[in-house]
Amino acid sequence: MASYAYETHEYDVVVVGAGGSGLRATLGMAEQGLKTACVTKVFPTRSHTVAAQGGIAASLSNMGPDNWQWHMYDTVKGSDWLGDTDAMEYLAREAPKAVYELEHYGVPFSRTEEGKIYQRPFGGHTTEFGEGPPVQRTCAAADRTGHAILHTLYGQSLKHNAEFYIEYFALDLIITDGRCTGVVAWKLDDGTIHVFNAKMVVLATGGYGRAYFSATSAHTCTGDGGGMVARAGLPLQDMEFVQFHPTGIYGSGCLITEGARGEGGYLTNSNGERFMERYAPTYKDLASRDVVSRCITIEIREGRGVGENKDHMHLNLSHIPPETLHERLPGISESARIFAGVDVTKEPIPILPTVHYNMGGIPTNYWGEVLNPQPGNPDNTFPGLMAVGEAGCASVHGANRLGSNSLIDLVVFGRAAALRAGEIVNPKERNAPVNKPAVDAILDRFDSFRNADGNISTADLRLEMQKTMQADAAVFRTDKTLAEGVEKMKAVAAKMKNLKVTDRSLIWNSDLMETLELANLMPNALATIVAAEARKESRGAHAHEDYPDRDDANWRKHSLSWVEGNQVHLDYRPVHLDPLTTEDQGGIDLKKIAPKARVY
Ligand code: FUM
Repeated sequence: MASYAYETHEYDVVVVGAGGSGLRATLGMAEQGLKTACVTKVFPTRSHTVAAQGGIAASLSNMGPDNWQWHMYDTVKGSDWLGDTDAMEYLAREAPKAVYELEHYGVPFSRTEEGKIYQRPFGGHTTEFGEGPPVQRTCAAADRTGHAILHTLYGQSLKHNAEFYIEYFALDLIITDGRCTGVVAWKLDDGTIHVFNAKMVVLATGGYGRAYFSATSAHTCTGDGGGMVARAGLPLQDMEFVQFHPTGIYGSGCLITEGARGEGGYLTNSNGERFMERYAPTYKDLASRDVVSRCITIEIREGRGVGENKDHMHLNLSHIPPETLHERLPGISESARIFAGVDVTKEPIPILPTVHYNMGGIPTNYWGEVLNPQPGNPDNTFPGLMAVGEAGCASVHGANRLGSNSLIDLVVFGRAAALRAGEIVNPKERNAPVNKPAVDAILDRFDSFRNADGNISTADLRLEMQKTMQADAAVFRTDKTLAEGVEKMKAVAAKMKNLKVTDRSLIWNSDLMETLELANLMPNALATIVAAEARKESRGAHAHEDYPDRDDANWRKHSLSWVEGNQVHLDYRPVHLDPLTTEDQGGIDLKKIAPKARVY
């Protein structure tokens, strides 16, 4: 057995991750007087939310008529009718309040002439339950909205005395008699081990974009929460739904915000044709992003791609006045120059759909409580554990997320988790004693990776996984590619036991840290491809060429994946169809959100 000394910390709540949802949860917990720690592997303001560009959706009606019911309708339709109705209602209703809170905390939003929060159009956001023109619903701080939000929330969390453990890597959850009682972490800069004993753990660890070869996600997006949950024997939900953003810069994958099309940018093929007009006659370039990504892929397949290899498309911004580009899109003008050598005032940006977001994740209710579905009780919760943000799956995005619904998800559900914790966590109660055998087991696993002496490097195995996922769980999928992908991924995952870690030190050991990250990515990737292979329909981001239609009779249900080693056990749970409030209570007219064909 490994022998590591550790320091123990006692908290009411431990939040793992300091992106938008982690910081909003941390702030909300601390504001209520709960003793709160935030454990994060990167400095808070370097969390991936910092890269969010275009904005945050809320029906403020600053630029024209809007209301939460229209926002909810667009979210339901965007999700291709897989989202949970109660959660989607909660998101759309709470969004304006959450944005005004951010404004009052100090987020420097862009402004209209009258001084209101500026809002821009984004794909799939409409008026009149999808019958009216596009709406300007996406609140923006130029094209650096995530940056503005993250810095503000970090400052506010410090103001409320939340305690930060920065550059601590969470190793695993401590599970005691069927509840989560804390987390064990490795401090990267001095090699010490820390046990956070707590009444509640909140996983806010972000997505797992780095399971793919080309992603807009930071290298730190390694699905750490999903990995920990899978090892705790809990399921992951709807993992087959992976979003490709239409406009990653060709070659680097760096994000060009949908806000660029919101400000008037448009896509063209090698004939100079605005091809989106053919596929989505009403909303054109502002159709939902799964639709736009598929259209780009079809254009390329049919030989109308641009460039020497005809393998990408053009995003045109040069007709937009330079003052507007400077004021509204300064960040992407810079990214286009650095990563594509393009001056956006003169030339189009070469773009390609790039992995951007995971709709699936750790199943939760709309309070962020993690679900541990049981026969006859699909909404059973797992005590002591919450998940928020991209790590979680509430599920508001269903099979496809609308652009700018991510930032609002972070703050609405980060806040909801804090409110719920305020109800169920008693700060006067003493914490249960540390579960030492569970801590020892976690440290044994850590030690075995530290001393891994096989024959394949972490970098090589990671690349195998990324190439497999990129090729076989792509924008379009077939029975053949998915079946091959499942076999390849099972073989890749089996090689985890043959890893070789060359650096044995405990201090700034990036080899060991990347190995632990790979061990987290792997169950996320496996669940993705296995759940995709099983789903015999097309819905949202899951475009199955052998089953091109949505099949509500058989497949309007959430997948659940339990991952153990290189095996995945699949089951399903029903979609929540009931809203929080009925029409006569001022809620949504259910007839308006009934399933229908999804056209833009
Ligand atoms: O295009 C973007 O700015 C991305 C926004 C989002 O994913 O919500």
